[in-house]
Order: sequence, then C-alpha cells, then structure tokens
Amino acid sequence: MNIIKVENKEALSIKAKEMFVDVLQNTVAPILGLATGSTPEGMYKLLIESYQNGDISFKNALAFNLDEYVGLAPDHPASYRYYMQHKLYNHVDTKRMNTFLPNGLAEDLDAECITYEKHIQEAGNLDFLVLGIGENGHIGFNEPGTSFESRTHIVTLTENTREVNARFFDSIDEVPTEALTMGLGTIMDAKQIMLLVQGERKREILKKVIYGEVTEEVPASILQKHPNVTIITDLDV
Ligand code: F6R
Repeated sequence: MNIIKVENKEALSIKAKEMFVDVLQNTVAPILGLATGSTPEGMYKLLIESYQNGDISFKNALAFNLDEYVGLAPDHPASYRYYMQHKLYNHVDTKRMNTFLPNGLAEDLDAECITYEKHIQEAGNLDFLVLGIGENGHIGFNEPGTSFESRTHIVTLTENTREVNARFFDSIDEVPTEALTMGLGTIMDAKQIMLLVQGERKREILKKVIYGEVTEEVPASILQKHPNVTIITDLDV
C-alpha cells in the first residue's frame, strides 16, 4: 500500500483531488467508484472548481456509488443520491444517465443487487474507486464479518454505524436499518483504489488496516492484498 501523509484535512482534499484529476485527464472513458460521507466532501468541492476552470470533464465518465440506504427516496436529504447530486453532479457535466447508485427503493432488493453488480462488471469494472472508512473498519457498508468474496448485497447496519451516521438525520430513529452496498469482492476488482482517512477517531482502525492481520473482522484489511491502493491520511501511524 502506498501511504501519503498530509498535514491536515485541507491538504488531504487537495491531494485526493489531484489524484482524481489525474485519472480524469488520463483515462478516455473512466469508470469511477465514489463514496459519500464527510471525508470526501472537500475533494468534491475542489473537483467542482477544477471543472469550472476547464481542467476536467466528467462527460465521458460512468460513476457508480458504493452504497445507498434502503427506504430513502432520492430527494431525501440524507440519501446518497441527494448527497451526490448536491455535492458534485449538479455542478459538473456528468449526465444523470451515467451516474448510478443502488436503488434502495427497489421492490426486489436482491434482484437490484444482482443488477447493480452486473452493471459494474459489464462496464468493465471500476478504474478508480474512492473509499472512506468507518471507525469499525467498514468500507462501503461492508460491516465487520462480511465475506471478502461478497458482491453487491443488502446489509443490516450495525448500531455503531447508525449512531455515527445519525448526524445526517433529525434523530437516530430515522436512520435506516438496512443499506445496499458493493461487496468487498466488487471493491477488490477495482483497478485503482484511493482510501481517504482523516481525523483522530480513525487512528486505531487505520493502524489495524495497515499493520494488522487480514481478517473479515476488519473489512478494510483486505486492501493489503490489492495491487494498487493509495491511502491519503492526516494521521501519523
Ligand atoms: C460512504 C461509505 C462509508 C464511509 C465511511 C466513512 O459512501 O461507503 O464507508 O466512507 O462510513 O464516513 P465519513 O467520511 O463520514 O467518516
């Protein structure tokens, strides 16, 4: 794993933006994998600026998000579709038809997972995948104990994840109990992965991910086996 240590949150966003821009400028029709959450917000802001300056375009890109809550409509402010529209897509030249998230409102969620997975594979797998990490080591919504072989699937969110994400909702009762997520197998098929890790609360888990045993109890530890992972972090570990 290639580890880039930066000074702070702002420097992390700049470095992440630079890697992203490099992919967009050097890939004819990039297949992107994207994360939501607090960590990549600054990067998305800077990408909008790069777009406005004419440095990049998303017009030939396909973008697949890692995950989406079950039961939230796209216009729910805590849905990941809403996040992506407001923090990136509404401000750049992505075409709506080229941006995908698992449909958490699908009547048949199992079928939705199969379709989503197939869609990624038919696109040729992800060229560049942006990841954040949960304090429990989750990537996407692959909680501890998830199989390393997993493909897009339904997950029951842990209480810890619901508590941590309650900040995006009016109360914890409104946080969905389930989500759809790319699996760890789907993630490992990405050609290049950029993992963003920011803030003291992630220190212990980052140490485990880099130096610890590769175990399904720490989902992100599987990244040790990936040939092209860059971790950008403001933590000295
Ligand atoms: C989001 C996702 C999650 C987050 C993780 C960290 O699409 O898949 O794995 O990346 O929970 O979230 P933040 O950045 O809010 O700490």
